Amino acid sequence: GGVKVRAYSSSANLGPGFDALAVAHTAFYDEVEARLEPGNGQVLVESVYGPYAHEAGRAETAKKAVEELLRLTNIDIGDRNIVLRIYKGVPPGKGLGSSGASAAAAVKAAELLLDLDVPDNVLVEAAGRGEAAAAGTPHYDNVAASLLGGLAIVAFDKNGKLYVTHMEIDAWFTLFIPRAEIASAKTKLMREILPKEVGLDQAARNWSRLALLVAAAARNDLQTLGHMMMQDEIVEPARSRFIPCYDSVIEAAIEAGALGVSISGAGPSLIALSRSREDAIRVANAVAKSCRCCEVEDIKVAQTA
Ligand code: HSE
Repeated sequence: GGVKVRAYSSSANLGPGFDALAVAHTAFYDEVEARLEPGNGQVLVESVYGPYAHEAGRAETAKKAVEELLRLTNIDIGDRNIVLRIYKGVPPGKGLGSSGASAAAAVKAAELLLDLDVPDNVLVEAAGRGEAAAAGTPHYDNVAASLLGGLAIVAFDKNGKLYVTHMEIDAWFTLFIPRAEIASAKTKLMREILPKEVGLDQAARNWSRLALLVAAAARNDLQTLGHMMMQDEIVEPARSRFIPCYDSVIEAAIEAGALGVSISGAGPSLIALSRSREDAIRVANAVAKSCRCCEVEDIKVAQTA
């Protein structure tokens, strides 16, 4: 028999956590079914279905991720093939970890299918390299959150060894998803527009805020977490001018009681933090009512996944 694994959408960065952290949420998900068939050691994608099946490169992400897993773990599937069926439910180009979700689900499905017990950091590394096939450069933050759930943190040590950890947080989110898409090429652009150098003082301010944000998450102090989400002075200011409605969405969300708002990943979506479903719905309604300056594709209320 085969296996079927679900991986949720995610939001990277949360302000000062650029390339370091992401949170998984129930807003959207991908699913990967995997089975073994007689063959010659290949990973094959049988079909891609669901609302975003048409997006080019998505199948490649999952396939590459499984190939990386086999390579990193030295597993030879011999005279069998791994066959994948992919449900693509996370909208691409919105900063919601779409390609990461496919890669995460695929890696987890392969691990289950082959009855392996792979350390988290190796799973994340395989999925991250798989994502590189679609996004150009590997982003380990989104895949870590999708794979492990909760708030995930990734760090490479000086030898290039990947460390990952994750923690549960009891939180609700409101996701504002503009119609504008940041396609794969634009995600690259959203990194190219970032400052190439930052001053030590500025860096120190930023990482102290990130440290506080993570400590707050660990204590489920959502008030502090939300406040720190809004304190990035390196990445978010450079990107915000490309985000439709950035100021007005933040204003409306905070006015309606959101604890914090930041760009979701490389954008264009924004993520607001709340304590409860009711609070998150209030934020969603307030933004829907007040925001006339851009075309909104979707506003989603979600919980930590
Ligand atoms: N941390 C990445 C970025 C998001 O902000 O470009 C994609 O993982």
